[in-house]
Amino acid sequence: MSRELLNIDDLSLNDIDRIFQKANTFYTHPNNLTTAGYGKDIALCFWENSTRTRVSFELAAKHLNHRPMYMYAKQSSAEKGESLLDTLLTLYAAGIRCFVIRHPQDQYYLSLMDDLPKDVVLINAGDGKHGHPSQALLDVFTLQHSGVSLQGLRVLFVGDVAHSRVVRSNVKLMHKMQAQCWAYVPEHLQSGENIANLEYKDNLDQAIVDCDVVMMLRGQDERWSEQLTGQHKIHAENESYLQQYGLNQERLKLLRSDALIMHPGPFRRNIEIDEQVLQDPRCLIWKQVQNGVYIRMAIFDLLLAGQI
Ligand code: CP
Repeated sequence: MSRELLNIDDLSLNDIDRIFQKANTFYTHPNNLTTAGYGKDIALCFWENSTRTRVSFELAAKHLNHRPMYMYAKQSSAEKGESLLDTLLTLYAAGIRCFVIRHPQDQYYLSLMDDLPKDVVLINAGDGKHGHPSQALLDVFTLQHSGVSLQGLRVLFVGDVAHSRVVRSNVKLMHKMQAQCWAYVPEHLQSGENIANLEYKDNLDQAIVDCDVVMMLRGQDERWSEQLTGQHKIHAENESYLQQYGLNQERLKLLRSDALIMHPGPFRRNIEIDEQVLQDPRCLIWKQVQNGVYIRMAIFDLLLAGQI
């Protein structure tokens, strides 16, 4: 395959800079979006549910005068047993060359690489708990747009780190850009696996005091074992997640006045974040969503032109 964005590891610092510069151009000239020579059919193949990623890839494609079409596994012939490879080859035969794919299996793309025609462009929109490169790019772009430098920045991830592809991609990207990545993981969500370049903290309140950015995470219960689901139910019945592990009103007061709050979404009000967080001037959650469109426009623009 000649052109793909599958993993943060695929990108050099130059590529990342090019994506951010292009996204910034789209951000600063929102009424001058169209570049000549576009009009490609793009299949958005979502084999897992999505709101932000799907809609922003679709909007990004439309802003650039492409023709996106959405495919959902349950409404496709995947339900009749057609494999992902055969689905893509079928769409290719119909004339589609660019695919945005979300799939529950880690690194689903490895089994496709040798069998897809060389002119296919493949963009990973999230694979299992392994990676979500466009999310990490929009998160770091949002931080830079808020005026912070990644060098030496202390970013704290709180919650279900073990099942989070967002954390894995963000840690890769932020580490490349010389940020320090920390994690606080509630005891019942600890897996024993340590993610490279992530420093695990055992005191949530102290980590909140010390960090520059806190990114709260949803429990990825669609990826939990039956045993963990059972344990979590018992836990949730007995204690409040927000009080023990969430960004509640008391912890908001611990956060520095110039610190920033993020969440990749979907967030659950009053579970991992108090709803007051959404009104807090330090909160970047809606900016992350907005910037997702510009970053995905930049990815289409550069990847389809062979510039990354
Ligand atoms: N952040 C994220 O990937 O959200 P969606 O699942 O809604 O796309």
